[in-house]
Amino acid sequence: MLLLSPSILAADFADLRSSLKRARHADYIHFDVMDGVFVPNISFGIPILESVRRITDITLDVHLMITEPMRYVNKFADAGADILTVHYEACEDPKETLKAIHAAGMKAGLAIKPDTGIEVLRDFFGLADMFLVMTVEPGFGGQTLIDKCVDKVRELRGLLEEFGYDTDIEVDGGLTRSNVDRILDAGANVIVMGSSIFKGDIEDNVRYFKEHFKERANA
Ligand code: DX5
Ligand code: ZN
Repeated sequence: MLLLSPSILAADFADLRSSLKRARHADYIHFDVMDGVFVPNISFGIPILESVRRITDITLDVHLMITEPMRYVNKFADAGADILTVHYEACEDPKETLKAIHAAGMKAGLAIKPDTGIEVLRDFFGLADMFLVMTVEPGFGGQTLIDKCVDKVRELRGLLEEFGYDTDIEVDGGLTRSNVDRILDAGANVIVMGSSIFKGDIEDNVRYFKEHFKERANA
């Protein structure tokens, strides 16, 4: 199943309610939490998530770009996260963090930065519900996709299949109408888009990708 997860980092926060309404036909809403330490940017956190949770029942796909995320697992669960994805590079003990996310009642995602090889994910096959392969350096929206990361997606999908897993692979950063098929061909099935959704006609952008994913699924 191909899923669309618009990243609200690219949305107009002065008009967030209507941006979310226009994106309501997406499958998830992607929520980029940045602490200014793990990544050189600060975005938003718990209060915004709580407010978003109050006005939508869409799946909230929270991407933590913060150091030692174990500290905040339960707080994000209480604030309404459905999926909580942490960075392998940010965890003292990724396995314990993923288990804590499950214990808090959420799906657990594990993310890697462009320079981290997919071999580090092998230890978490069967534990993570989703792997997030970053296709830009985390920290900012509106960047250009890093080509070498497409091969990482293909390699990861191959390794998962070799070991008999059909775990979701989420891809995040620099995805557009012109490059999304390369990513889907490589085996990703959860597509994060910020600029490609929230810059321009939000409803039209969501409709375009949902229809495109349906055409590919029926092809
Ligand atoms: C970057 C974030 C991405 C970003 C995607 O650190 O994790 O989710 O917001 O934005 P675009 O699609 O504009 O690259
Ligand atoms: Zn993200």
